Formats: sequence, C-alpha cells, structure tokens
Amino acid sequence: MKITKDEKAMLEGRDGEAVKLAMEILTEVGEAFGAEELVDASSAHIVLAMYKSIYDAGVEVCEKFAAMGGKFKVTTTLDPCGMDTERPDYFKTPREYQDKQNRVGEAYRKMGAIPVWTCTPHFAGNLPRFGEHVGWTESSAVAFINSALGARSNRETAGIDVCIGLTGKTPKYGLHLDENRRAQALLRLELGGRKLERWEYPVLGYFLGKTLGSEVGVLDGMAGLPGNDDLKAMLAGAAASGPLALLHVAGVTPEAPTVEKALGGNKPGRTVVIDQSVMDQCYAELSTAGRDRKVDLVAVGCPHYSVGEIERVLALMKGRRVAKGVEFWIYANRPTVEMAERMGLRRELSELGVTVTLETCMLISPIDAWNFKTLMTDSSKCAFYAPIQVRCDVLFGSIEDCVERAISG
Ligand code: F3S
Repeated sequence: MKITKDEKAMLEGRDGEAVKLAMEILTEVGEAFGAEELVDASSAHIVLAMYKSIYDAGVEVCEKFAAMGGKFKVTTTLDPCGMDTERPDYFKTPREYQDKQNRVGEAYRKMGAIPVWTCTPHFAGNLPRFGEHVGWTESSAVAFINSALGARSNRETAGIDVCIGLTGKTPKYGLHLDENRRAQALLRLELGGRKLERWEYPVLGYFLGKTLGSEVGVLDGMAGLPGNDDLKAMLAGAAASGPLALLHVAGVTPEAPTVEKALGGNKPGRTVVIDQSVMDQCYAELSTAGRDRKVDLVAVGCPHYSVGEIERVLALMKGRRVAKGVEFWIYANRPTVEMAERMGLRRELSELGVTVTLETCMLISPIDAWNFKTLMTDSSKCAFYAPIQVRCDVLFGSIEDCVERAISG
C-alpha cells in the first residue's frame, strides 16, 4: 500500500503511541482488503460503545487507547450507550454493568469524542456531505449516509472505527471506490403506482436486505419522495436483514438520478420484482407471535426517533393512557429529547404513561430483568433482532397499531 510522508510519520510514532497503533492496524486492514492507499476520513462514528455488546474486552480497548494519550483528530461520535444515560436504575440496569459502561464513556471523554450516543449521528451534528469519505460503524447509519446523502463509508467494524477517528485516515477500498458503488441488481417496485404507507418502508427494507446480500442494488418505481424518517426506517431494516451498506433509490440517491446512471451504463445482473405479495409475505415474516397475543412492551425508536415521530405518537394517543401491565418506550438521542422537552411533548407523553428513553435502545441495553414476553415495534430492524437480543416474541406493526396495542394491551 502506498503511504504518504505524513502517514509514515504517524506510523513511526510522531503523533504518539495511540496514533501509531491505530495506523498499524489500519495499514494491516488496508493490506488485507487490497487497498492501494489510505484516504482522508473527515469523521468517524464508533460502535465500540455499548457494554452489552463490547464486554470487558471492548472496555479494555478504549481504555488502552485513552491511556496511550489518544485524541481524535476528526469529528467522532458514539453509537447509543448501553443504558439510559439519565435513569439507568429506573430501567433496572445492574450496578456493575453501569460502572463498566461509565468507564467506556470516560475513556471516550478523554479522547475527545462527541458523546451524543446515537445511531442517527447525521441528525445530531455529524453530517457528511456528498462524496465525502468517512469511517463509520452502525449499519443503519452507514446505509443512510451512503444511500441518502452520497457520502462514502464501508460498514466498518468495532475498533477500526476508533483507529479512523484517531488518525483521520481510512483504507481506500470497498465503497470508497467508484467502481464498487455501481448498482448490479435492479429492484422494480410494482405496487400499481401507489405511494408507500409509512409502515411499509421498513417492510420493504427488510426484503431488500435479505434479497441483495452484499450486492449493490438500484430501486426503481418508488412513487413520491420518501422523507428522512422513511429512508431511515427502510435502510435500517435493509442493513439488519443483510450486509447492505449502499442502496440506490432512483431519483433520491445523489448518485442515482436515474436507474441507468446508478447502473453505470451496465445492464443489471438480475431484476427482482417487488409486488404486493412480496410485501405481504415480508410483513408476516416480521412477527413471531400471533396478532391476538398480549403485548407487554411497545418499543419504538429504532433507529432513534425524530421530533416529528415523537409528536406523531402523542397525536395518536389522543389523550388515552397506556394500559396497566404494558410499558411503552420511545428511544431517541439527547438533542431530540431536549427539543421534545422544550415543546412539552415529553411531559405530556409521560402523563399518558409513555416513557421517552435517553440515548440507548431496546436491543443494546440490558432489559432482561423486566422479563418481557412479547414486544411490539414499528421497526423491522428491531423485529429482526429482538427474538435473539431480548429473547421474547415480536409483533411488527405500524405506529398506529403500536399505539392502539399499548392502550389495549
Ligand atoms: Fe439504533 Fe438500537 Fe436500532 S442502536 S438502529 S435503536 S438497534
């Protein structure tokens, strides 16, 4: 791999031990993936952040980098925390777990990370532009910035993300290269020209992820322009059910004003038709329990909810209260929650029994002590992972369905 003078100096320890180690790791990764060079990464987003999935080894890694004097050279944000950052005791987070999670937070504080603890950092101060190279983990965020914004990131892995933040460099392979961003498969939406309902975006995403695997696809036939929340839900589902990191949506993705442009002048390797029967089948697959099952947790905000989505929940509640024996949790990041607080939404929701939970989520915080049997969600990503991560049955539905079930149980 070609190394610049500046990169060589980092490898030789000019910028300290942490940067030296990070550069050694990045050059090894680059060699392994056949990268010819490193490229400047203007930001990093770190998934090596939640104790529930990084365990003691992950705590040691971030503490080691901090102890070596590591300081992030570029804007670096953190994925959700492994517990509610405001009321961990209320959510029954074990004390020993809290201590370890706090050690992670302290290590990153010393290194200069922005502790925004969110899976939607692009809506919270870390916004890459079209064509910008970055090094992010968090599959849903990577899929969003590649597909909706036209920024360039591979689905990095935990630990590599820290190295990218410390050096401001990332190996140039995969989705950093033009040739790997061209669509290979064409996905044709054939739903009679109708616009998708909000709840259908995550269903479609679930199908796209499991169908495309690691192929880049271009989706054609979407009526109307999807909003940010629609794309967020669709791409999170797609990045959960498969290794997807980039999907061209014709007329939406900056690199895909047309299908032809997304395909780069080539013919598609295959064409997949998505009709109503496909959507119905996927909708059914996202639930592991029958519709008549009693629900004891309604959990939404995967990925983290926006202010608009929180407002919508309040409107749908129509002054009614959550049923006894049911928890209704909304997950969001701190800037969103602060805005919801200023608008009075959080207090009004709390009075109706809906809890706005801060900077974590149902999958990466330990909620076993609650012993939930059936979780209902409007997120296909959550529905995909919850049977394993929360060890409970799942019902997938629209936010309207989720609210009605929270009220009726
Ligand atoms: Fe975010 Fe947790 Fe879902 S990290 S994307 S809310 S699984």
